[in-house]
Amino acid sequence: MSAEKRLYNLHTSKMRDPNSTPEMTAEFYDNWSGHYDEEVLKQNKCGGPRVCAEAVEKALAGLNRQEVRILDVAAGTGVVGEELQKMGFTNMDAVDGSRGMLDLAERKNIYHRLICDFVGAKPMDIENDTYDAVACCAAFGPAHLKEDCLPELIRVVKPGGYVVITFREEYLHFVEDYKDKLEPAMVRLQDTGLWERVSRDVFPKFYQDKNGITFVYKVL
Ligand SMILES: C[S@@+](CC[C@H](N)C(=O)[O-])C[C@H]1O[C@@H](n2cnc3c(N)ncnc32)[C@H](O)[C@@H]1O
Repeated sequence: MSAEKRLYNLHTSKMRDPNSTPEMTAEFYDNWSGHYDEEVLKQNKCGGPRVCAEAVEKALAGLNRQEVRILDVAAGTGVVGEELQKMGFTNMDAVDGSRGMLDLAERKNIYHRLICDFVGAKPMDIENDTYDAVACCAAFGPAHLKEDCLPELIRVVKPGGYVVITFREEYLHFVEDYKDKLEPAMVRLQDTGLWERVSRDVFPKFYQDKNGITFVYKVL
């Protein structure tokens, strides 16, 4: 099945079912993992990972790239990690719900720690204030991460560190989990003093002709 067909199914079928579970999403990616890089990324269709990595690089400007610790959330096969590695970042961990995707990431020798877990409200097996930045690309979509994971992303980042979230912009408007929920949740977390917004940028060609959006938040 082509990448287009898979993505069409992702957006139209059971993945949009309100009853879909993280396990169903992980199974979808387990099945797709072997073709993911080739079909979606290596044909230069998807500019999102590069933009996400550039936002992390900008946020961490001036810091030692071999010392700063970065968590790639919903890392998949490690495409964002590869971009960060090209920039000189070497101290990275990954978390993802799909064992198949993570196994491929592991082979690339980018990450120190690879954690197979669902990212949500439940605490991950990570100490408080561990990372200088979280990079989170293409992880918000139908049946993907929800706004309930944001406090958990904040928890694992050191005060003064950054959370960088990039995804397809239109999802803000048509994914039920995000419509009138995701951005208000981000604002509430700012109002309660947990983080502050650094930027909110819409950019072209996140995936083919679809715009992307990148949020950068500084953890307080
Ligand atoms: C479109 S891929 C993006 C992978 C990578 N960040 C990239 O930019 O290429 C989405 C990834 O999110 C993961 N994912 C979706 N929902 C998740 C959840 N609740 N917890 C952990 N990982 C999740 C999937 O397993 C998949 O690897």
